[in-house]
Amino acid sequence: MERLLLLLICFLFLSQPNNSSSSLSFNSSTPLCHSHQSSSLLHFRNSFSVGQSLICDLYSYPPKNSWKMGTDCCGWDGVTCDTMSGHVIAVDLSCSRLQGPIHPNTTLFSLRHLQRLNLALNNFGGSAISSKFGGFANMTHLNLTRSSFIGNFPSEISHLSKLVSLDLSWNYMMRIETPSLKRLVQNLTHLTELVLDYVNMSSVSPNSFMNLSSSLTSLRLYYCGLKGRFPDNIFHLPNLQLLDVRYNYNLTGSLPTYNWSTPLKSLRLSEAEFPINLPNLISNLKSLKELYLSNCNFIVSSYPTFLPNLTQITSLDLSYNNFGGQCPWSLLNNAGLTYLRLSGNNFIGQLPDLSTNQTQVSSSNSSSNSQSVSQIPSNLVSLKLYDNLLNGTIPSWLYDIPSLQYLILANNQLTGHIGEFLHNSLVALWLNNNKLHGPLPLSISKLVSLRYLVVSFNNLSGNVESKIFFRLKNLSYLDMSNNPLLSLSSFTFATNILPNIVQLQLSSSNITEIPHFLQTAENIEYLDLSKNQIKGNIPKWFLEVGKDSLYNLNLSYNFLTSIGHLPWKHMDILDLHSNMLQGPLPVPPLGVSFFSVSRNNLIGEIPLLICNLSSLLYLDLAYNHLSNMIPPCLGNLSNHLIDFDLKSNSLHGTIPSTFAKGCYLKSLKLNGNKLEGSLPQSLVHCRKLEVLDFGNNKINSTFPHWLETLPELRVLILRSNNFHGTLGNPKTKFPFPNLRIIDLSHNEFYGHLPTNLFNYLKAMMMNVSANKGELKYMGDNYYQDSVIVVMKGLFFELVKIQSLFTTIDFSNNNFKGEIPKSIGELGSLKGLNFSHNNLTGCMPPSLGKLTNLEWLDLSSNKLIGEIPIQLADLTSLEVLNLSENYLFGQIPRGKQFNTFMNDSYKENRGLCGFQ
Ligand SMILES: *[C@@H]1O[C@H](CO)[C@@H](O)[C@H](O)[C@H]1NC(C)=O
Ligand SMILES: *[C@@H]1O[C@H](CO)[C@@H](O)[C@H](O)[C@H]1NC(C)=O
Ligand SMILES: *[C@@H]1O[C@H](CO)[C@@H](O)[C@H](O)[C@H]1NC(C)=O
Ligand SMILES: *[C@@H]1O[C@H](CO)[C@@H](O)[C@H](O)[C@H]1NC(C)=O
Ligand SMILES: *[C@@H]1O[C@H](CO)[C@@H](O)[C@H](O)[C@H]1NC(C)=O
Ligand SMILES: *[C@@H]1O[C@H](CO)[C@@H](O)[C@H](O)[C@H]1NC(C)=O
Ligand SMILES: *[C@@H]1O[C@H](CO)[C@@H](O)[C@H](O)[C@H]1NC(C)=O
Repeated sequence: MERLLLLLICFLFLSQPNNSSSSLSFNSSTPLCHSHQSSSLLHFRNSFSVGQSLICDLYSYPPKNSWKMGTDCCGWDGVTCDTMSGHVIAVDLSCSRLQGPIHPNTTLFSLRHLQRLNLALNNFGGSAISSKFGGFANMTHLNLTRSSFIGNFPSEISHLSKLVSLDLSWNYMMRIETPSLKRLVQNLTHLTELVLDYVNMSSVSPNSFMNLSSSLTSLRLYYCGLKGRFPDNIFHLPNLQLLDVRYNYNLTGSLPTYNWSTPLKSLRLSEAEFPINLPNLISNLKSLKELYLSNCNFIVSSYPTFLPNLTQITSLDLSYNNFGGQCPWSLLNNAGLTYLRLSGNNFIGQLPDLSTNQTQVSSSNSSSNSQSVSQIPSNLVSLKLYDNLLNGTIPSWLYDIPSLQYLILANNQLTGHIGEFLHNSLVALWLNNNKLHGPLPLSISKLVSLRYLVVSFNNLSGNVESKIFFRLKNLSYLDMSNNPLLSLSSFTFATNILPNIVQLQLSSSNITEIPHFLQTAENIEYLDLSKNQIKGNIPKWFLEVGKDSLYNLNLSYNFLTSIGHLPWKHMDILDLHSNMLQGPLPVPPLGVSFFSVSRNNLIGEIPLLICNLSSLLYLDLAYNHLSNMIPPCLGNLSNHLIDFDLKSNSLHGTIPSTFAKGCYLKSLKLNGNKLEGSLPQSLVHCRKLEVLDFGNNKINSTFPHWLETLPELRVLILRSNNFHGTLGNPKTKFPFPNLRIIDLSHNEFYGHLPTNLFNYLKAMMMNVSANKGELKYMGDNYYQDSVIVVMKGLFFELVKIQSLFTTIDFSNNNFKGEIPKSIGELGSLKGLNFSHNNLTGCMPPSLGKLTNLEWLDLSSNKLIGEIPIQLADLTSLEVLNLSENYLFGQIPRGKQFNTFMNDSYKENRGLCGFQ
């Protein structure tokens, strides 16, 4: 959505062309251009190379070809001369695809008579705005928007005291500091238009805007990083018509509550921190046409009652405000309404029907909850209602709006069919995550302006014919994923469709082929074909697709057997897991940050080339048949690698020992290999480690006490190795402060259980019920940590590790002595297994304090005494195994004990009271 938002913004931005430097009415009596000015202009323009500009192509800005030596420069495109003196007074080189820095010595600055200069939408390659721009004494209009300027904004711009319009927006690497801004505000007393959207003003004190010129009509400060209090007097500027401070997240201030007479037509406060009193606002702002209040701070909750009064509004954004109840549909009756965004609220109910004049009569008698619109809002351009709780069908009038370009109803509960569109104005149609069924409407084939079509996660059915797409030359973003009944085979076999596709998502779509039309998709960047039935070898032609553009490819959960050499230069995220890939491990392109080929049939060794992947963050090679040693250089990857998974392969040799200071690893999983030797102590450099899984190897070592100091370590699995020795006392004051899962089972540890360790496992002591509300999983969007634990006697792979999951498994070792009382302090334990050791003494009654315990296994030890009655209070306990000990006395009765079978106690000669 964010991407869409940006595109929409730039669309809106570009759809208001600048008429200011309209071409000169040029006739034979006009004096010829001064030759030094003409050569200055040419020099200036020729000091750049001419490159590509997607945005200028998209909006077909024509190249300015009339600039030629020897012709009158006053006749050149974008050049205006003074009719009397012949001096060049205006230059418009916007969207001229210029590339390269503007040097302070450029001949542009010799055009001293310039009054208007527009260099917008070029790429000045990261040069700073030269202080020489301050030398145009008569400059009235300066426009440098979207031109890749960086660095500090020069205070000399404040010398342009005749400036009327200044636009420096969207040079987001440029900074403005308080002193330069103050000077600007004080000196530019004729300013009517100040546009600084998306310029870095994070260090500017908003007070600097205090003395802005009273002639100001438009102030745009979208996404500038402003924080602090916005000066009140701006709202009283007598001519201000447009104020935009959206997305300055920490900008506060207060709107006037009375005596506010203002010509404001457009007020845009979305995501800023102004407290909003909507009734007050509406009663004050009589001229208001545009009101953008997304994610704002409403202080009067009775909002909808006041919305019907907004009859003159043409654009309204009330998204993400937690409003509930019925949508304020009456807004749709505003004949002038062009833009309505009510997304991200909790609106319920159905979209309104169009009232015929008869039904209006009858419905006014019958019900008050069904609203209707009295006429088609025929000027509506954009309707965004996504992320609400709307149900019912899409009403027919929505297909009959001649101006509608953006229809975004995603993430609701809409049902019924998608109807036929009667006009072809649509640019974006997002209907994903609803309950729509039936076929894709045929009229989509006529939507020649369509750029976004997203219908994923519905129940659409029928055959998607390729002819629907023949005329959709502009479609760049298509997502039909997760419609299990949609049949896409004729679509995937089609060629020569969708030449401009950039993002294609067909996950869970039952397709058996990589869509053939991708052969001509030169700009494809994002391709998700996961969870399909694509079988066999990747076709050769596919390796040419998006060679220079593809950055995200997901082919996971298919039946691919081979893929060959991976060519994509700009690949960032490559997911091939859960296929049937054979042969050696394919080396991904150098720049990948995510690479997964887990759950395939790959064989052979891990090639050293993997170590050259200098951007890698996530590497998942688990569940293959990789053999030989882990290349030692993989340790060097750890200064960027976050997650490294080699589980279940056939690797042998020792674990690389080259983890250096600054190691970034959060998760290292080597479970299920044949690794030998000891654990590398250099792992202590990986201070962010959360998960360490060395289980099921042949590691021969004593307990790695040095891991105690890792502040984030949550999971430590040493199960089934040749670990030996005693656990002894912790070597640090607060060992394992975050540990929640520890599995030392099936080793040769001996000696006493570590009483002092149990005293300090802070994370296991936390009272879970206090945080029960938040069910968090470890990992982030790109990986979810998975480990295998033995729960209730069975192996489980926890694909997502719930952050609060807490277990101790010390079973099958040679621990002796008593079970320490302190075990009772580990209040969040869900599972405790000390079985198959040589533990003696009585069961500590403190076990009864483990109120979250779900399984407890103390079987096959030498425990004596009675079963503590306190255990009857463990209401979560589902599995209890005390068999094969020397327990005696009465088995407690009642409560939880009624649920255990006799197996729980067998082979204890002294126990009585079996059920
Ligand atoms: C600056 O130029 C761009 C491109 O021509 C235009 O879209 C924008 O409206 C201009 N800014 C002002 C303030 O006129
Ligand atoms: C302007 O300065 C740049 C860099 O300082 C230099 O490369 C270029 O030759 C100069 N151009 C002129 C016309 O002097
Ligand atoms: C600036 O404008 C003034 C008044 O119109 C004029 O006299 C002067 O020559 C202009 N200066 C330049 C450099 O064009
Ligand atoms: C204000 O503009 C005048 C005339 O252009 C100039 O001389 C002066 O230095 C400017 N003041 C500041 C603070 O920039
Ligand atoms: C804005 O304030 C929030 C707390 O309300 C804070 O977390 C955040 O870092 C602040 N952002 C900036 C850019 O200062
Ligand atoms: C809205 O209009 C109703 C009647 O049309 C009126 O009673 C109410 O005061 C108005 N509210 C505001 C805030 O103007
Ligand atoms: C209802 O009647 C009004 C005039 O009385 C007319 O303008 C309007 O178009 C009618 N609406 C419909 C849906 O027929």
